[in-house]
This record gives sequence, C-alpha cells and structure tokens, in this order.
Amino acid sequence: VRAEEESGLGPQVVVVEDVWGPAFDRLGQRVDITYQPDAWSEPEQLANLTRSASVLVVRNRTQVDRSLLAGAGSLGLVARAGVGLDNIDLDAADALGVVVCAALGANARSVAELAVGLALSVARDIPGHDHRCRQGRWDRATGVELAGRCWGVFGLGATGAQTCLLASALGLRTIGYDPYLAAGDLPPGLDRRVERPGEVLAEADVVSLHMPLTPDTSGLVDRDFLASMRPGSYLVNVGRGGLVDEAALLDALDRGHLGGAALDVRAEEPPAVGAIEGHPRVVLTPHVAGLTDRAQDRVVDALGAAIEDVLAGRPAAHAVGRRDRPGPGRFGGPAAGGPADG
Ligand code: 3PG
Repeated sequence: VRAEEESGLGPQVVVVEDVWGPAFDRLGQRVDITYQPDAWSEPEQLANLTRSASVLVVRNRTQVDRSLLAGAGSLGLVARAGVGLDNIDLDAADALGVVVCAALGANARSVAELAVGLALSVARDIPGHDHRCRQGRWDRATGVELAGRCWGVFGLGATGAQTCLLASALGLRTIGYDPYLAAGDLPPGLDRRVERPGEVLAEADVVSLHMPLTPDTSGLVDRDFLASMRPGSYLVNVGRGGLVDEAALLDALDRGHLGGAALDVRAEEPPAVGAIEGHPRVVLTPHVAGLTDRAQDRVVDALGAAIEDVLAGRPAAHAVGRRDRPGPGRFGGPAAGGPADG
C-alpha cells in the first residue's frame, strides 16, 4: 500500500529553496505544494517537511544527505533546480529508491553569458572604472582586448560548450579539456580538445571552470595549476568554489602572475569577507551565473515535467541517478511487496 494512500493524503510537493515558476503554478492547481524557501537552513523544519513529502524540490543549499532521505518514507523524487549535484547523496537516493532529477542544460546559456561578462569585466576593469567614476575620477587606464586571444575551458558539459560558442563569437580561439566527454566529441564553438590540463594552461589567456565538485576535482586549481597558467591570464570560476585553492589564487594574483580572477562561486557560500573581497583584480558575483529569468523558467519547466512523470507513474524525465522510477512503497513506485522495482 502506498504511503499516500495509507495516509489519505494526495502527493505532497515540498519546495525548500526559492524555486518557482509558471510550471509550478500549473502543477499547484492539481497537487498540494508547500513552499518554504528558507527551510533548507533549518534542519528540524527540513526533516519535518521532508518526512511526509512525495517530491522534494531543492537548489544547491539543501543538504540532501542519507539521513534526510532515510527519514522521508514516501519520498519518490528529489528535483534539483540546477545542475550541480554535490549537495545530494546520489548513492543513498539510488539505494533508498528515490529518483533524483536535475535541470541539466537549462541554465547553460545564462552561465555562459555570465562567464563572458566576468572575463570582460576583469579584462577591462569595468568594476574598478565604475567605482572610480562614481568618486569623480576619470582614470583612462588601458584594458585588454580579448578578440584574437585564446579561451580555455575546463569541463565541456552544457555550460562549457555554451561558453565556447560565445567566446568564439567574440573572436577568441577556444581550447577545452574534459576527461569525461566521449572520445571524438567536439562541442560546436570549440576549436580544439586536448588530453591534458597543461595544454590548456599553456595557451589560454582566459581559463574558465565548469566542472562539478567531486573528490577528483576538489582543489584542482592549486599552486601548480596557477603557476602553469600564462602570465597575465585570467581565471573565471562558474563551476564550484571548491575547485579553487583561494590562498594559492591570492598568492598568484599578488605576485602579479595572473592578470585577474572572477569568481561566481566560493568554497564557503556566503564567504566571510577577507583578502579576496579586497583585491583590486578580483571581480565577484554571488553564485548568480544560472540565475536569470529565462534560465529559471526552463529549470522549473524541466522539474515540472519530471514531477508530472513521477506522479503519473512514468519514468522521470531528467533523471540523473541510476533509477528513473521510485522504489517500492515510495510515492510513484510499486506498492511495497508488489512487483520488483527497476
Ligand atoms: C547549478 O548547479 O545549476 C548552479 O550552481 C546554480 O544552482 P542554483 O540555481 O541551485 O543556485
């Protein structure tokens, strides 16, 4: 017997971060949606809300760990309003019978637009000029033109590929590294794919990071990585803060080896104000690369489709784990003791 039938309640969709859009308005006409955008930060409230949920909607701040999943007996789907999965224990979800879906690709163009905007900001010191103009200063310092230079991309998934397209449209050569991309795949806009990170670093004037945070990528941008970057080059991070050793980055900036850095993501979010915040050749944004009107509508559309699928007993669209149907006894799954789940 399914949990929702036992309880007499219909499916409960619980949104615990600020995720909303027209697709949820439509869904809300048929299904009970609880919208608690701050619940991610209150462990007790989060556990209480999740306990009876059929679907849990999160961004990147909710820690969807094994204990939260284990305490959520009717949960059939975790819907991640974005791409990064470092806040979700995918193995636990798979083992416990919970489907995880993510809006892969939905925010890629927006992330790429910000990556380019950040590179232009650093190369032309737009924030510094803005700041000085507001103080009545008129310092006409020379900037760096990007056309004809080389943009290097780490991670050739959707956001990296879109960044190649935009960089290429600006007249940069593009070079990329991604050990997980199928052999022979060359995203449009990418001029050359290389097998070793050092090949990117030797050529690129702008290096942008689009990798997920995993044990393999954590701290990837360390002293050696930075020392291998071209003198005067720029680092743009729109992946995850944990990819970069910030102390090593500060050192590379202070020694004048790097021309500048732009960080949309940080190891701790929000970060404590420190030397990075005070650095004149660092441009900062608060993890907003994917946060645009159109990207968010696409994200919510994708989650809405996956939720509709699970509620209707179909395989979930955009599933990212090993399962696309909930396990027995979970919402949308076969009744406990019924047919084996897939
Ligand atoms: C992502 O992983 O898609 C981005 O980091 C944006 O995530 P968020 O919109 O959930 O903050």
